[in-house]
Amino acid sequence: MTNPTSNGLEGVVVADTAISEVDGERGRLVIAGHDVEQLALHSTFEDAVSAVLTAGGARLADPPRLGAARAAAFELVPRLGDALAMPDGMDALRTAVGHLRPTGDDLADAIAAIGAAPVFVAGWNRTCGGLAPIAPDPTLPHAEDYLRMSIGAAPSPAAAKALDAYLVTVIDHGMSASTFSARVITSTASDLISAIVGGVGALKGPLHGGAPGPVLDMLDAIGSPEAAEPWLLAELAAGRRIMGMGHRIYRVRDPRAAVLETAVRPLASRRLELARAVESAASKILRERKPDRPMAANVEFYTAVLLDAVGLPREQFAPTFAVSRIAGWSAHVIEQRRTGRLIRPASRYVGLSASTGQYRQ
Ligand code: COA
Repeated sequence: MTNPTSNGLEGVVVADTAISEVDGERGRLVIAGHDVEQLALHSTFEDAVSAVLTAGGARLADPPRLGAARAAAFELVPRLGDALAMPDGMDALRTAVGHLRPTGDDLADAIAAIGAAPVFVAGWNRTCGGLAPIAPDPTLPHAEDYLRMSIGAAPSPAAAKALDAYLVTVIDHGMSASTFSARVITSTASDLISAIVGGVGALKGPLHGGAPGPVLDMLDAIGSPEAAEPWLLAELAAGRRIMGMGHRIYRVRDPRAAVLETAVRPLASRRLELARAVESAASKILRERKPDRPMAANVEFYTAVLLDAVGLPREQFAPTFAVSRIAGWSAHVIEQRRTGRLIRPASRYVGLSASTGQYRQ
C-alpha cells in the first residue's frame, strides 16, 4: 500500500536546516538567527553571505572575498562563448555559471559562483545593448559594483543602498523550489556548480523568480489607481493569475514585501503609490474570490518597484534575484553535504497494468 500522492509536496518536511525559517501563518522570516527586517536594516550583502554560509556549516576564517571573485569571473568573460548574447538573462546566467570549474571545495566554489553572478548578469545586460562588459571594481561593495557594471556609471548612494537591502532580503527563504533543486542535485554527491546551475533553472519560472518583470508590466498596463480593479477583474476573468500575489507558504503578507517597500521609499519611485493601490485592490478581490485561501502580496510585488527604481531593466529582475539567492543555495549545498542523504522520493504508477492491460486507478 503506497501513501497518497503529495501533489507539490505541500507541507512535506524534507530537511532540517539552520539557514532560514519561514513562518507562513505569522508572516515571519528568520535568516541565520535574524529577523529579515533587522538583517536588511543592519547588514550588508557581504555580512549576509557570511551569515548564511556559516549557518550552513561552512568554516569561514575571513569574510568571503567577493571583490576578488568578481575580478576572477571577469577574466572568464572572453571564454564564455555566446552565453552572454542569449536573449533571456536566466539562460545567459545558467550557461555562464556552467563555465565555472568545480574544484571539489564547496566553500571555494560558492565564493567563485557568488562573485561571478553579478559580473555575468551585468555583462549580459551590456552585451544585449551592444556594449562591452564593464570590469568589476573589487574595492566596491558587491551591490554597488553590480549596479555600476549594469548601468555603466557610479550609482547614487541611495540606489546602491536599496539594492543592497534587496540582495540581503532575498538571500534565502526556506525550502523554495530552487533551493530544493540545489539540494537534490547535491544529494547525489554532485558538485556545487551543478547545484547552482539547477537552482537557476528552477528560479527562472514565473511561479518562482520570474514574476517581478510581469509585475512591472501589470503596473504599466494598469497605469492609474482607478484602473486597478477593472483591470484585475478582467485578468482573472481571462483565467490568468495576478503576478506578485499569493504564496505557497504565506497566508498573510510576505514580510519581505514590507522590507522592500520601506527600502524603496528614499528613491521616491513614481510607481510606489500605484503599486500600493494595485496591491490593495488585488488583495480585496482575491479575498472575496477565495476567502478560505488568503492571498497577499509576495516578495516579487515590491521587488519590481525597487529594481525598477534603482535603474535595472525588467529583463534583469529574475537574474538579479539569482545574484543574491546563489548565496542561499550555496549554504544549502554545504548543509546538505554535511547532514543530508540521497533525496529519492517515490512515485505511484498509474499507467497500463502489465497483467490486466488496464490503467491503474
Ligand atoms: N492570482 C489569482 N489566483 C491565484 C493566484 C494569483 N496570484 N495564486 C493562486 N491563485 C489561485 C489558483 O488559481 C488556485 O485556484 P483554484 O483552486 O480555483 O484552481 C488556488 O489559488 C491555489 O493555487 P495553487 O497554484 O495551488 O497555489 P500555490 O500555493 O501553488 O501558489 C504561487 C503559489 C506563488 C505559485 C501562486 O500564488 C501564483 O501563481 N502567484 C503568482 C505568481 C507569483 O507571484 N510568483 C512569485 C512567487 S514568490
